[in-house]
Order: sequence, then structure tokens, then C-alpha cells
Amino acid sequence: MFRIFTFTCFFSSYIAQHTVPNMAYPLSTSYRWIVDENGQRVKLACVNWPSHLQPVVAEGLSKQPVDAVAKKIVEMGFNCVRLTWPLDLMTNETLANNVTVRQSFQSFDLKDEIVGFKTNNPSMIDISLIEAFKTDELFFKLNTYIHLTKPGWCCANDDGNGFFGDQFFDPTVWTAALRKMAATFDGVFNVVGMSLRNELRGPKQNVNDWFKYMQQGAEAVHSANKNVLVILSGLNFDADLSFVRSRPVNLSFTRKLVFELHWYAFSDGNLWATSNPNDICGRVLKRLGNRGNFLLNKGLPLFLSEFGIDQRGGNANDNRYLGCLSGWAAENDVDWSLWALTGSYYLREGVVGMIEYYGALDSDWNSVRNSSFLQQISLLQSPLQGPGPKTDAFNLVFHPLTGLCLIRSLNDKTMLTLEQRTEKQGHDDSDKLFKSRFHMEDYVHL
Ligand SMILES: *[C@@H]1O[C@H](CO)[C@@H](O)[C@H](O)[C@H]1NC(C)=O
Ligand SMILES: *[C@@H]1O[C@H](CO)[C@@H](O)[C@H](O)[C@H]1NC(C)=O
Ligand SMILES: *[C@@H]1O[C@H](CO)[C@@H](O)[C@H](O)[C@H]1NC(C)=O
Ligand SMILES: *[C@@H]1O[C@H](CO)[C@@H](O)[C@H](O)[C@H]1NC(C)=O
Repeated sequence: MFRIFTFTCFFSSYIAQHTVPNMAYPLSTSYRWIVDENGQRVKLACVNWPSHLQPVVAEGLSKQPVDAVAKKIVEMGFNCVRLTWPLDLMTNETLANNVTVRQSFQSFDLKDEIVGFKTNNPSMIDISLIEAFKTDELFFKLNTYIHLTKPGWCCANDDGNGFFGDQFFDPTVWTAALRKMAATFDGVFNVVGMSLRNELRGPKQNVNDWFKYMQQGAEAVHSANKNVLVILSGLNFDADLSFVRSRPVNLSFTRKLVFELHWYAFSDGNLWATSNPNDICGRVLKRLGNRGNFLLNKGLPLFLSEFGIDQRGGNANDNRYLGCLSGWAAENDVDWSLWALTGSYYLREGVVGMIEYYGALDSDWNSVRNSSFLQQISLLQSPLQGPGPKTDAFNLVFHPLTGLCLIRSLNDKTMLTLEQRTEKQGHDDSDKLFKSRFHMEDYVHL
């Protein structure tokens, strides 16, 4: 899988320093960019941290202290967490206030998780689920959150959570819960965005209700919290925003609206593995153009809020898709969030300790699952375009397969090298460039 293009690139210091220094909150939008108070671009390079499954506790905390996980996220080059939550946390007072983390684990008979949680996060085990959700470290950086109604794994067409009017999806209850969540984090400066609903879907979905209720939900969030970006998901499992092209979203406020899309290989079955990768990439990108990419040309921000691959490396379908996706994401320099952070889940679909092979962390929640995968997405973690201090701007050619940039050797003009500034803390070579020499004819195919 190969795509070559040039664009302006700068390695800004803010990822390299593993922090987001001097960022002036709150965030807003300017044309298609998310910017801070000074008008500087803030590129969301997030990772999804699930907190919406049945125990309603952010995953991984039976394995590592919450601040260690937070530190790890920053070391891996992410600047943001997309923290997920079930609507019940805002609608069921008993669940939110009268169930502690320990009691929640007990109710699912998760004895080992209790032991691990007590060891790693003793100060959190006997607090309520809502207090645990508000733990500072979960909000240590830019944070957006999403949700479904019933705690559990998401999503299916027929799970009663898909669209307004479904069994567990009453628009009035939903709007009130959004307002409450927005108010809960009003004034919490690093909660920067709120997504209204995860993966709208199912037989009831239709464009008119989308506009009616999404606008209503967006107004509710904004009225309760003027700081957060309001993030709107598309239809068909958040794969389709085409209907916004001809009918604009009508809101009473400006400069806060962001659209989100999800894109996975498996949405196209096994086509990536079975077709010519260039053909399928071309076809899918054309479709993406109609379903979401057009927003960028209209000056509206698009957040690729879920994508990911099986990081064990053996899934050809996923691997080819990632080459196509990362070329697209670099070229368009979109904001994004990887699925997922998760090493393993406390309890997913009835399985205790289920491993998430799409996760950046291993099941110990400490080791990186696959560092070559992280390298592949590392260029995408830096802002490449948009308003900001372009101190070190140059043109480069991106090699999606490795995530490296193509540099012509100064000494030997027939040689090209692939280079990357390695930016991950905790690696011994953190400030060195590493290079792999190769012959152009071996690699460059247009
Ligand atoms: C929470 O529990 C306390 C007693 O432990 C009880 O008095 C109170 O009514 C409960 N609140 C809710 C919302 O269930
Ligand atoms: C609210 O949460 C409690 C604790 O999990 C649960 O027992 C109860 O059934 C829930 N209520 C509703 C209406 O779902
Ligand atoms: C936008 O919404 C406002 C009130 O919410 C309404 O007065 C106006 O007619 C709407 N505009 C369009 C184009 O629908
Ligand atoms: C990481 O992914 C690569 C393919 O991208 C694969 O060859 C390798 O085996 C994977 N490593 C681990 C530790 O899973």
C-alpha cells in the first residue's frame, strides 16, 4: 500500500515535549481547524479510553495506577483521551452516586479485579462511580467523551441504543442527560469536547430526526457548558455525514461545532485483503469524500474519532486499510482518535479480562503492544498544517507503510532515506533520528 504526496510539515515542540504547554483553553474552531484561545491549531491526536462497559469504570485500573496510565498515554504521543460513558451514569442516581467501584465489581463477581484495583488505585475503590469518573487523571489532557445508554459493549443495529426512539434511547432523557454531563464539567478546563452519541444506527435512523435531535442535543450541551466543542456523529455507525452537504446544521452558537466519523477495515468486509489495495483505497476514499471529507472543503472540522487495526500484525485486511487511512489522514491532517487504549477489559461481552488486540497497550496496561504500529501513526500525531507557529516547515513525502518521511540524502542524491524524529519518552533514543537506507526503485510506486 503506497501513496506519495507532498505537504508542508513541521515537527512542533508540543508533542515532542510530551505535554501541551501554554495551550490556552477553551478550544474553538476556526475554518476547519480546532484552535486554542490564541488562534493556534490544536490537533487532537487522541486515544479512546473505554469507560462505558458494564462495571462503568475506566478500564485498566486494576492493572496500573491511573496516573501511570495517564503518563503512558502521553509517552506514546497522544495528547487527548476520548473517554466513553453510558448515559445511565447521568440518568440513574443510584448507579452514579450509590454504587462504589468495589460494589460495581462485586455485582459482576470480578474478585481479581477488586484485588488489583485495591492495590493500584486504593483511593478510588470505595468512591462512587461518578466520583471515579471525575478523577483528575482521567481528564489529564484534552478530553472528549462519548456514550451509549446502557452500560455494555457497543454497537449493534438491534441493541435498542441505536437511534432516537429506540427502546433505550428517549430523546428527552438523552437531552437532559447531556445537559447534566455538560454542566458537571462546566469550568473543568481540560474537558474540551463532548460528543453527543456514539454510532447512530439501526432501522429507525433518518435524516430529519438526526437534524431535529442533534441540534437539540447540541444546544443543550452548549447552554450548560459554553467551553466544550460539540461533536456530532453521523449515521450508519458514524460512517455517513453526506446529508450535511446539502443541509447545514443550524445552531444558535458558532465556532464550537465538530463532526466525527468512524472508519474501520471490517466495514468493507474482507475487501482490503481480497482486492487490489490501490483500487479499494481509491474507491473507499471516493466514498469517504462524499460521506465526510467534503466537510473539510466547506471549512468544517472533521474528527476521525475511531479507527484502528489488530496490532498483532497478522490481519492483512487491517494492514492494507491502515496504509490507505494514514496516507489520507496525513494528507488531510485530520484530528483523530485511535481505537483503543485498552490492553484488556474487566468484562466484555461476558468474558472476564478480554484482551483488546486493537489496543495500544498490552494486557498489563504498561507495555506498548506494538511499537512499530505506534511509529506508523506517529507523524499523524503532529500538526502538519493549519494556523500555528511554522518554525520548522519543509516539504516532505510520507511513507504510510512505515509512518516515516522520505528524505533525499545530501551526499548521495540517488539514495533516499526514511526518517522520523522519535518522540516517545522512555525510549533511549528519544532525540535521535533513525534512518533506514533504501533504493528508491524498491519502494516508490505511484
Ligand atoms: C443511597 O443510599 C443511601 C443509604 O446508603 C440512601 O439513604 C439513599 O436513599 C440512596 N440514594 C439513592 C439515590 O438511591
Ligand atoms: C439503577 O442502577 C442500579 C444500580 O446499578 C440498578 O440496580 C437499577 O436497576 C438501575 N435502575 C434503572 C431504572 O435502570
Ligand atoms: C435556525 O433555527 C432558528 C431557531 O432555532 C430558526 O429561527 C431559523 O429559522 C432556523 N434556520 C433555518 C435555515 O432553518
Ligand atoms: C507488530 O506489527 C507488525 C506488522 O505491522 C508485525 O509484523 C509484528 O509481529 C507485530 N509485533 C507484535 C509484537 O505484535
